[in-house]
Amino acid sequence: MNEVLLRSENLARAFGGLQAVAGVSLSLYAGQVTALVGPNGAGKTTTFNLITGNLRADSGTAQIRGRPIMGLKPWQVARLGVARSFQDLRLFTHMTVRENVFAATETASWFWQPGGSRARLRRQERAEAALEATGLAALADARAVDLAYAERKFLSMARILAAEADIWLLDEPASGLDLASRLRFGELLKNAQARGVAICLIEHNLDVVVELSNRIAFLDQGRVLAEGDPGTILKDPALAAIYFGDRPQEAA
Ligand SMILES: Nc1ncnc2c1ncn2[C@@H]1O[C@H](COP(=O)(O)OP(=O)(O)OP(=O)(O)O)[C@@H](O)[C@H]1O
Ligand SMILES: [Mg+2]
Repeated sequence: MNEVLLRSENLARAFGGLQAVAGVSLSLYAGQVTALVGPNGAGKTTTFNLITGNLRADSGTAQIRGRPIMGLKPWQVARLGVARSFQDLRLFTHMTVRENVFAATETASWFWQPGGSRARLRRQERAEAALEATGLAALADARAVDLAYAERKFLSMARILAAEADIWLLDEPASGLDLASRLRFGELLKNAQARGVAICLIEHNLDVVVELSNRIAFLDQGRVLAEGDPGTILKDPALAAIYFGDRPQEAA
């Protein structure tokens, strides 16, 4: 079994009367893609927010390589090797593509020593490599706001790559991509996987899930209902009913 890089145990968070996340335990393994699947409002994004410190958990814990991370700020979690993308991308829209990627190199812990110009040069090299890998080199001087939709998604991925993190939390990175772009995206994931990155992928398209993930955690109403290999999980008729909005009525 591959090494567990990130583990959450019983994470919970309510918003007023709504229990958005109701005890999520999740393990992310080096070199594996875990798809976080579930209907709208299942608590997928909130789970990411609890792990990354963007939201405070009501209860539960999380560790990176056994080190507790609850209560840390997002930048502190980032320095422990977690890179995260957002459903709404959150690019610096009026900065160039290159500046967006360069900014992402700042969060990686091993760049944080006061290394002067050598460290800066190394960050620039990382940024250029990420631009190459995502096919954005020719667009490096364009402003993010001027990019086409798919290129913005790849810019978000370039920022992830440039951070040199070994845990990736990706919130619907492939949504709305055409087939060719999806294949490009798949290559990025497979390369990262081969380097031992632990990836958690929120994805609604089950074809993409089957193609790219090794494991599925199925979330509904803030709970992990099932976890396992994609073939088994996606064949479960009860989960399919929930996923496609055909929830069985509770007995009166
Ligand atoms: N900051 C917030 N304040 C109040 N309610 C919230 C907040 N964030 C999320 N919620 C609610 O918590 C529930 C879970 O939301 P979340 O965004 O985690 O779902 P999701 O699984 O990511 O859904 P989607 O697939 O639509 O992105 C939803 O009912 C949502 O409306
Ligand atoms: Mg979401």
